[in-house]
Amino acid sequence: MHWKPDRQSHLTVHVQIVEWMKTRIERGDWTVGTKLPTQRHLAAQFEVNRSTINLVLDELKADGLLESKIGSGTFVANNSWNVLLDKSQPNWQQHIEASIHKPNYHTIQLINECEQNDNIIRLGTGELSPELLPTKQIEHSLKSLSLESRAIGYSEPQGSKKLRSILCEYLKKRGIETAPENILIVSGALQALQLIAVGLLEEGAIIFQEHPSYLNSIHPFQSAGMRMIPVQRDDNLTNTLRVAKRKRQSLFYCVPTLHNPTGRNWTIEERKALYSTCKQLQIPIIEDDVYHELLFESSSPALKSFDQSGQVLYVGSVSKTLSPGLRIGWIVAPEPVIQRLADIKMQTDYGSSAFSQEIVAHWIATGLYESHILQLREQLKLRATFVEEILEQQFQHIATWEKSEGGFYIWLRFNEPIVNKALFLNLLKKNVLINPGYIYDTSDLHHIRLSYAYASLEELKEGLNILMELTRR
Ligand SMILES: Cc1ncc(COP(=O)(O)O)c(C=O)c1O
Repeated sequence: MHWKPDRQSHLTVHVQIVEWMKTRIERGDWTVGTKLPTQRHLAAQFEVNRSTINLVLDELKADGLLESKIGSGTFVANNSWNVLLDKSQPNWQQHIEASIHKPNYHTIQLINECEQNDNIIRLGTGELSPELLPTKQIEHSLKSLSLESRAIGYSEPQGSKKLRSILCEYLKKRGIETAPENILIVSGALQALQLIAVGLLEEGAIIFQEHPSYLNSIHPFQSAGMRMIPVQRDDNLTNTLRVAKRKRQSLFYCVPTLHNPTGRNWTIEERKALYSTCKQLQIPIIEDDVYHELLFESSSPALKSFDQSGQVLYVGSVSKTLSPGLRIGWIVAPEPVIQRLADIKMQTDYGSSAFSQEIVAHWIATGLYESHILQLREQLKLRATFVEEILEQQFQHIATWEKSEGGFYIWLRFNEPIVNKALFLNLLKKNVLINPGYIYDTSDLHHIRLSYAYASLEELKEGLNILMELTRR
């Protein structure tokens, strides 16, 4: 040990010795359990008073780096490494907790994690089963895709002009007349909601939403500082909206066709009533229409098809029909809105995958998309009937539900308030994953969002048996 404190340094002798000792421990020169020289020896070596050494050792003991053993001397403490690591690393936990975006609910984090486990029965997943995805057909169609050299570069701020023109034709069948300038291609419908939250609303703006709502299970508006106000089905709509709106900017988010999580489909009267009330009060509407192609029988008009004044921001996606992995969706809106959102999107990700846009354009333009959807609807209908039969046989005395009109979901309501976190965790122990109602409405302990879209028929049967067993207990 030849080191001595530097008397010319701006640091005090005391501080220099503390830092020197910490470095010895950090570098492993003094491992855990190393016995330090006596105080007298240290004082002589550093050419300082024993009282300085005393102070240094006291400080390092208080920090947990050194410990004294009576009668034996001073040693490097067991925990010294952890203490040093804690001190040298940034406090990430503090960064995380102080950041803007809200975390997922713990239950949703568990759902996301468990969905990676192949052995789990997914009774709630809002995604097509691998056996319903047209993987082989997509692979085959790639061979007939001819790409211009620009096609897979960065795309225009609003997304591929080709895809936007094709979408204009496609949306006519939904009763929506629009132009490529009024369309923005996004990376899934979820990005559409995020762009609207940060690009069109002031902090503290009000988002009206159905009750329960998909928006409670993700947090694009909440994280941007917006207030969420649930609107009950039987509320007097005009009064509720007028009173709550007051002087705040506001917007109504809804999923009128095959709602997530309830699977409900609004009547045409309900659609017209919401549209005209919002128009009268000048409240813009976000119509989230990602499930409409999956209606089993009749089709219900989009709110956007009534819209003559740019009141409705219309959101669509291929995630529920073709492939969520392509990450392609769209927003139809007035031009200034599209330009604003496109500008933010460019700042966020420089545009959605050009390759995915080519695939979607090809599938829609060639009719592959629509013929796939015809088959998909039949498959989903079979699955819905299969699950409804099991429910009728086993759940009739403890729960109620509405017959599915399409899409993925049955909103199963238990007569007793039993759908709590304990049930969720107990099912997980039995390898069954559910989407409990409380992630869509924190006070709801009655519902489960059942999805017949993901698990195989055998898994659905087994999973529902286990659910029955546990709920009966
Ligand atoms: C109503 C609704 N909107 C948006 C999304 C997100 O879709 P995407 O995968 O296109 O982002 C979902 C997915 O569950 C949904 O159910």
